[in-house]
Amino acid sequence: MNIYESWGFKSNPFETLPLPANRKGSSLMVGRSQAARKIVKGLVSSNKYVTVEGLNGVGKTSVINVSVFDAASEQIKNGSGPLFIPCRKVFQLSSQKSADEFKFEVLTEIGQTLIESKNTLPIPKGYSKSPTNPALNRWLNSIDQRAAGFSSPIGGLNFGSSSTNTDGFSKSGLEKAVRDWLMLLFPSPNEGGVVCIIDNLELLQTSKAAREQIESLRDEVLSLPGVRWVLCGALGIIQGVASSPRMAGYLQKPIKISDLDSRSASEIFEKRIQYFRTSNDAELPLKQSEFVRLFSLLRGNLRAVLSECDTYCMHVSDMQDDGISITENTFDDWLDQQIEDAFSTSQEYLGKRALQIFETACEKESFSPSEFADFGYDKMQALRPQILALETAGLLVSTQDEADKRRRTVEVVPKGWKVKEYIDRLKRDAQKK
Ligand SMILES: Nc1ncnc2c1ncn2[C@@H]1O[C@H](COP(=O)(O)OP(=O)(O)OP(=O)(O)O)[C@@H](O)[C@H]1O
Ligand SMILES: [Mg+2]
Repeated sequence: MNIYESWGFKSNPFETLPLPANRKGSSLMVGRSQAARKIVKGLVSSNKYVTVEGLNGVGKTSVINVSVFDAASEQIKNGSGPLFIPCRKVFQLSSQKSADEFKFEVLTEIGQTLIESKNTLPIPKGYSKSPTNPALNRWLNSIDQRAAGFSSPIGGLNFGSSSTNTDGFSKSGLEKAVRDWLMLLFPSPNEGGVVCIIDNLELLQTSKAAREQIESLRDEVLSLPGVRWVLCGALGIIQGVASSPRMAGYLQKPIKISDLDSRSASEIFEKRIQYFRTSNDAELPLKQSEFVRLFSLLRGNLRAVLSECDTYCMHVSDMQDDGISITENTFDDWLDQQIEDAFSTSQEYLGKRALQIFETACEKESFSPSEFADFGYDKMQALRPQILALETAGLLVSTQDEADKRRRTVEVVPKGWKVKEYIDRLKRDAQKK
């Protein structure tokens, strides 16, 4: 049996997936009203892509998902203003994916989103209800049908000529079907559109790679009518994309998502307990105050906090299975062990100089290699190998921006924060002596 079920919960309250664009996501969301307002304002007021940035795991994807869902719910309730429909899938670029493959994926997911949203789609002028698209539905959702292609104009929408070859259809028929449907539903940008997110741009590692990919999609995919784009990334990558002359005028100013405060962290824990518990006496082996301690230790990286909570719960369950009793100290002992393990596996990288650099990095939380002077160097090239070594030790993560060296592209990762805690404890102990 799932450990959480055995403790009286529906499922794992510490799942680390972004909050989804649905009622569940909306009920688990804490804080972020300001960022949500900015995202919706960006979608409503401008055709340029909305951009969102923040440190790893801080809650970027969640705030986009939930703010679009909440805006759509508002619109459906009040019936006024543009309607934004969250695309059912969040997209990611990769150097292995061609522009054509990406386009196919986008068209497919938008088609599926429209099919799934049939009860909430806008009703175009001259229609008594929003047109459905059975042929596209059949093509997307039935393998047999896909092999055969389709050609009939249905529901007032003209599907282009189709080929019996799937690939031929994918390039012509699918695109035309989806475009026509989108144009019918959202004849002008003021009516809203399907909101698509391109997430985790930092996974492309360099600003150059991200820029090139976005540029290659600009005219074909990112310009689809009735689709609004949100680009999201960590480590200065959005700024890297924005600096391309070919993207000038296409991107809005980044909306920055910063750490939540510890009161919000408490509330996150509370809401999850309420949402996932199946009875009022259901209890987790982790206290709210312990959740907040992890939140402060990991500097607001919620993804890391939730993941640690899950690891701890597994640990407790293992202890229970082994007949070891759980005491007031169980959490502290476990955390001490985590911190010690993090230090012992990076100790060999932490010579005197590296340690100083690491501590300066922690003070900054995120930084650019161009801040070399703060690290006691007189040129950037001297700092780079040190950053690389700390990355190898798993304490920092970085992307590169060839064009703008001032960009904050390096940040401390969760293991780094544990090591920092270990070092701080050593210092405190030394002072006491
Ligand atoms: N405001 C919030 N309220 C409650 N839970 C949140 C909130 N923001 C994020 N979370 C939770 O924290 C975790 C991390 O959120 P999310 O994936 O959105 O962060 P991110 O910044 O997009 O991360 P990454 O850098 O990995 O892409 C998720 O499990 C999500 O459910
Ligand atoms: Mg994310």
